[in-house]
Amino acid sequence: MKSIKIKPIGIVHNNVDLDNKPDNWFDVVSEIRVYSKYKKGLYRLSKFKRIIVIFHFHKTNYTHYRLHPRGNPENPIRGVFATRSPHRPNKLGMTEVELVSVRGNIIKVRGLDALDGTPVIDIKNGDK
Ligand SMILES: C[S@@+](CC[C@H](N)C(=O)[O-])C[C@H]1O[C@@H](n2cnc3c(N)ncnc32)[C@H](O)[C@@H]1O
Repeated sequence: MKSIKIKPIGIVHNNVDLDNKPDNWFDVVSEIRVYSKYKKGLYRLSKFKRIIVIFHFHKTNYTHYRLHPRGNPENPIRGVFATRSPHRPNKLGMTEVELVSVRGNIIKVRGLDALDGTPVIDIKNGDK
């Protein structure tokens, strides 16, 4: 099997780490600082209300192929591909979030369930 090389386009900055994760991420505001070489690609992003952020779960290095969703033993066991667990083979997360603002290379979003320091792989227009 061929491997695929992917380089992050930026990094998430917020005040959430593994020790202080909220139960609910809806109100968490994060900044995505896009590396300057990709800034051109943000042209007219600000006209959208929602964007899709694809990111790397960089703080995990193992895979659970079968698990209780949300780590709750009351949830019947599922295969990893039937969950949104970060502990998956390719460690990719994907969340649609509210776009708050775009200033230069800094995108402010609300509702991104990614920890501080998370590498961002891609951003897409999320308006329907
Ligand atoms: C259940 S995943 C869902 C992510 C996304 N909404 C999705 O569906 O792909 C969200 C959880 O991943 C964990 N997480 C977020 N960023 C991470 C990172 N950089 N490394 C490891 N775990 C992370 C946090 O525990 C967070 O609550």
